[in-house]
Amino acid sequence: MQKVIFDTDPGVDDAMALLYLHRHPDIELVGVTTVFGNAAIELTTRNAQFLHQEWGIAAPIAKGAGAAFDEARDSAHYAPAVHGEDGLGNIGVPLDIDHPLDERSAAQFIIDMVRADPGNVTIVAVGRMTNLALALKADPGIAALVKEVVIMGGAFDVNGNVTPAAEANIHGDPEAADVVFIAPWKVTILGLDVTMKTRMSSDEMAAMVKAGGPELKLLSDLSQFYIDFYRQRVGLDGMVLHDSCACVYLTEPHLFDVRTGPVRVVCGGLADGKTIQAPDQGRKFIGSAWDGVPSQSVCTDVRAEGVLDAIRAVLVEGRAP
Ligand code: BDR
Ligand code: CA
Repeated sequence: MQKVIFDTDPGVDDAMALLYLHRHPDIELVGVTTVFGNAAIELTTRNAQFLHQEWGIAAPIAKGAGAAFDEARDSAHYAPAVHGEDGLGNIGVPLDIDHPLDERSAAQFIIDMVRADPGNVTIVAVGRMTNLALALKADPGIAALVKEVVIMGGAFDVNGNVTPAAEANIHGDPEAADVVFIAPWKVTILGLDVTMKTRMSSDEMAAMVKAGGPELKLLSDLSQFYIDFYRQRVGLDGMVLHDSCACVYLTEPHLFDVRTGPVRVVCGGLADGKTIQAPDQGRKFIGSAWDGVPSQSVCTDVRAEGVLDAIRAVLVEGRAP
């Protein structure tokens, strides 16, 4: 069993990723921490509570950051055009959800869970990196105790999706992402280089609903707004499965090609939020901001059909891929 904390800003593609972690027989979801991003923190937290209630997810939820790591940064950039005003495709999530929240902040929850089970907890982070940066700031010692950090974020050899330079999860809090990438822990990053290639068509989604349980009807309903966004604004048929890619990586790393090397984030200016790796192989750069920074893994390519097969196996049949 892989023990996983899911740090998330639900979010339509976050919802699919959450259901994947919940239903995977070899993954134990030990906690969900929320962060602002696709919507404000009150809404992403409420959405996590709603999905837990609807899908019978028992893992505790700890509410996280509502603003960026650097207080000087303007944090109020959400994504209503992609995920709806409510963050879940405008399906009409009830205003008050009667589902408990952990008393701790997300950062404290992460620290406590990692310290309680050193070496065994993986963090999958698919929103702004703010909670992780706050946890590291409060307790730098956790870096040595986390099994792995798997991140959806960044754009390395491709354009971003907020600006030509930057992807949303990094652009929303670049200083936090830089803290996370340069910390002495094992980080694997799945950015737009792989997630934009991993898409589920509307027909494939409809086929899953037909073959699977009632959870998939809700997933499909809340995904329609997001599917429309990608059809009308990006010209793609179907859902881009950003956050599920990070979850599939946990047990199916062979579906991804990886390049190692230190990663830094541009903080400020024209390319604010751009992620840049100095590959371990190839040209050496002496005297740069990448010197002395731990080497991390960046996914550069994906067998997308294999990722879709894994998602179908887990969501429809509840079996390991
Ligand atoms: C990322 O940004 C959010 O909109 C999605 O949930 C995903 O985590 C893609 O850039
Ligand atoms: Ca997300």
